[in-house]
Amino acid sequence: MPHQHDFDVLVIGSGAAGLSLALALGDAMRVCVIAKGDLAESNTLYAQGGVSAVMDAGDTVESHIEDTLRAGAGLCHRDVVEHMVRHGRDRIEWLMAQGVPFTMAPTASGESAVHLTQEGGHSRRRVVHADDATGQAIETTLLERARRHPGIDLREHHIAIDIITLGKLGSTPDRSVGAYVLNRHEHRVETFRAPYCVLATGGAGKVYLYTSNPDVATGDGIAMAWRAGCAIANMEFVQFHPTCLYHPKAKSFLVTEALRGEGGLLRLPNGEPFMHRFDDRLELAPRDIVARAIDFEMKRLGADCVYLDISHRPADFIRSHFPTIYQKCLEFGIDITREPIPVVPAAHYFCGGVVTDTAGRTSLPGLFAIGEVGCTGLHGANRMASNSLLECLVMGQSAADAILAQRGETLPVPEIPPWDESQVTDADEEVVVAHNWDELRRFMWDYVGIVRTTKRLERARRRVHLLRNEIGEFYANFRVTSDLIELRNLVQVAELVIRCALKRKESRGLHFTLDYPDTDDRSHRRDTILRAGDFG
Ligand code: FAD
Ligand code: SIN
Repeated sequence: MPHQHDFDVLVIGSGAAGLSLALALGDAMRVCVIAKGDLAESNTLYAQGGVSAVMDAGDTVESHIEDTLRAGAGLCHRDVVEHMVRHGRDRIEWLMAQGVPFTMAPTASGESAVHLTQEGGHSRRRVVHADDATGQAIETTLLERARRHPGIDLREHHIAIDIITLGKLGSTPDRSVGAYVLNRHEHRVETFRAPYCVLATGGAGKVYLYTSNPDVATGDGIAMAWRAGCAIANMEFVQFHPTCLYHPKAKSFLVTEALRGEGGLLRLPNGEPFMHRFDDRLELAPRDIVARAIDFEMKRLGADCVYLDISHRPADFIRSHFPTIYQKCLEFGIDITREPIPVVPAAHYFCGGVVTDTAGRTSLPGLFAIGEVGCTGLHGANRMASNSLLECLVMGQSAADAILAQRGETLPVPEIPPWDESQVTDADEEVVVAHNWDELRRFMWDYVGIVRTTKRLERARRRVHLLRNEIGEFYANFRVTSDLIELRNLVQVAELVIRCALKRKESRGLHFTLDYPDTDDRSHRRDTILRAGDFG
């Protein structure tokens, strides 16, 4: 196999965002999609609740827009929200045309329509779903389509290390011309040349000790974009999902918010409900409020978890609406039709990321960022449930349209020097990587979690600085491995989160600090934007 590959478009990531873009471009351009693990492994695969879209005759685009703006706590960009919400319905219809088996229900007139469930922040039922495994239905359907598409080349176990820019090759004007990629099958670094490169690398939940995200969510796209000189924004707004299953063996398993949408109640260990003490919307308050309420109660009582109880609903209803959760909990000896589910909050979603416009363009020409890796302005300070998959699907199409419109102006890509391994050897102490990985995720959980203080953030900043230097030295001297690539990215993402959090001297949406508990609209009603050169 050659060490250099040429495509029109390199897509890094095969979740909902990357695959929808690839399918929109495959007929017109030579597209390569790479994934660092198995092709299906992604946040998308594990999405449970669904995709928000205005599908019901009684619902309106304005209502979806207003709910999104309210959840976003003053930082959503209205024009961007309008763009996403207005395209919701056609994206759902596109998914159905691809074959995604959404749950259907009979209407009053006896016809069949998509069943809509309810989630926090939405003022009405608006979430299209495939039982409680919506992500799996979307991911497997789109992947199957992409596999059969002659214009799309899919490569798994290929992990992108860095974006190649003309600037770094010593030319001007700067633009992205490809990426260095570790082919994990062949254990070698290859060059992928392409005039357009799309980051669709998803989120960064693994920067925290406890997360709903799978192992691939290490923020690689954010770190690569930052190193390539792109602006990054709003990294302080990390969403903690209130309800992940609390069991020593249940790694990352989420219990969907739709379970609360269908009547699930949060209870203290003594069985008492508690959400009425925190918000009038009770269990369906936006996630930041519910997660903070749980965190508060766990700390107050010294409890390991709280409980989510749906056992008052009929057993058949529970089994048919939540088959995945029912089965998973049963594996751990919990019968959710009869007893409450032990739950804790965990890092779930990054509202911040690479700054883009509504076509996914970053500040570096030729480089796009779509899906969870991007920061378009849709989510503001807090993402409303099920608006993320919506954004992936809309941005996949919007970025594809922009690339198609631009391709007449595409400049040739120059020769790129191969990856240089002449100065490195195999690592002598892999334990350094494992140790730093654990340390980073633990102090991010302890010091940069749901409730913050300036003192804890400063402490985290000092530690991340030490780790960054140590990992940088390791990276310069030893041959790259996927663990090292991911750790280098995680530490970069951690630093960006801490820097943004330190800049926001107020509490808003997902960022809550005891030192500035109030929202300060006068000085802080704006995005936190970091640019290369802001710090060393
Ligand atoms: P992902 O689906 O995460 O895909 C990322 C891809 O990038 C993967 O293929 C990965 O291998 C690849 N990749 C990453 N780094 C590299 C690299 N360096 N080189 C090569 N490839 C790389 N949102 C909703 O709207 N509704 C829901 O119901 C919902 N439920 C959720 C439940 C869970 C448990 C989780 C974790 C998230 C949920 N979300 C939900 C959020 C939503 O699933 C994600 O935000 C969305 O799927 C992100 O899609 P994406 O395409 O941007 O990235
Ligand atoms: C869930 O099903 O609770 C997750 C929904 C989301 O993250 O949007």
